[in-house]
Amino acid sequence: MTEQPLPSVVPPGERARFSLTVNGDEMVVEAEARRSLADVLREECGLTGTHLGCEHGVCGACTVLLDGRPVRSCLMLGVQAGGAAITTVEGLADGPAADAAYHPVQQAMHDAHGFQCGFCSPGFLLTAAAYLERRPDATRDDVREELSGNLCRCTGYASIIDGVLVALDRQEEQA
Ligand code: FES
Ligand code: FES
Repeated sequence: MTEQPLPSVVPPGERARFSLTVNGDEMVVEAEARRSLADVLREECGLTGTHLGCEHGVCGACTVLLDGRPVRSCLMLGVQAGGAAITTVEGLADGPAADAAYHPVQQAMHDAHGFQCGFCSPGFLLTAAAYLERRPDATRDDVREELSGNLCRCTGYASIIDGVLVALDRQEEQA
């Protein structure tokens, strides 16, 4: 029996043209249709703050916000984000705290010495920034659980959780 080739959903080499809003800037991207959103952001948009660790959805280093919600940009195609608003770590400081040098989570993490090498930090920062908006009443255990999908090889996590709690406390003081 002759083996039939599997149907290809995205033929190799096929290119796609789509628009994205990235960190508030509207842009039209032309890229191979099979490219992940992470690759599109890094290679077509030049935003290398989105890091790639495992490239299969485990480590969370590639997390970006898609219409305000954290997603793993290694697990979706760039074309699937067509029409959406993406926030990468490069756009975080221009978000809710436009007057601040850093986003409050960035500042809190800096003050709490949250990170070491920083490879995991973009994913943690974006996950935490979205969480703080959604759960201003979160406890330490809540934060630990929310961040459990992001991996860090350096810190042992305590300092990262401390940083998010500093941001939560400051948020509460300003409320
Ligand atoms: Fe996307 Fe690890 S690189 S989850
Ligand atoms: Fe190095 Fe998290 S600070 S991987």
